[in-house]
Amino acid sequence: MRVLVTSDYRTLSEEAAELIARAVRTRPGLTLGLPTGNTPLGMYQELVRKHLHEGLDFSRVRAFNLDEYLGLARDHPQSYHSYMRARLFDQVNLQRENTDIPDGTPGIDADAECDRYENAIRDAGGIDLLIVGIGANGHIAFNEPGSSFDSRTRVVLLAPGTIADARKYFAREGEVPRSAITIGIRTILDARRILLLASGRKKAEAVERTLRDPVSESLPASALQLHPDVIAILDEAARGH
Ligand code: F6R
Repeated sequence: MRVLVTSDYRTLSEEAAELIARAVRTRPGLTLGLPTGNTPLGMYQELVRKHLHEGLDFSRVRAFNLDEYLGLARDHPQSYHSYMRARLFDQVNLQRENTDIPDGTPGIDADAECDRYENAIRDAGGIDLLIVGIGANGHIAFNEPGSSFDSRTRVVLLAPGTIADARKYFAREGEVPRSAITIGIRTILDARRILLLASGRKKAEAVERTLRDPVSESLPASALQLHPDVIAILDEAARGH
């Protein structure tokens, strides 16, 4: 794993966006794997800026998101569908038919949706560049500790800490998701290139263990050590400085 430590979150966001922009310019029809959450917000902002002011062209790019809460309508303000529309899809020239996010609509046949999603990624020729954040417990996408490294897209129960982190975004306790659809660890490792992003002190321990600990299913992010082309962009706080 190559590690780049930036002085602050803003620089991390700029470096991540520049890496993606270079990949898109080199291969305009590439397929991205995209995360949600707080960490990539600055990166998306910078990608939008590059689109508006530097002509970065997404018209042939394909994009698959990593995960979605199960039990939220697509247009729920906290769904990852809504997040992606607001942060990226509605602001750049990505074609809507070239984007895909697992569908967590209440009542959906979730297992069939998982199969559809995994097949859609495969039929697209796989993911060229996949961007992931990391949870404080070492989760990647919503692969919580204990996830098999052979896992593919599936329904998962969220860890108590992950639910607690999500709680602040929901008005009513009954709305807070307990489960999600996530691509698997194997789906992540199948990507040709992986960009790991981590910002802030709360991530420092998980980052340290990801870089140094033996590979173990108890720390999902440690699976990234098994991949030949991972770059981690960390700010100093996440690196523990
Ligand atoms: C989001 C995702 C999660 C987040 C992780 C970190 O699509 O897959 O694994 O990347 O929970 O979240 P933030 O960036 O909010 O700290």
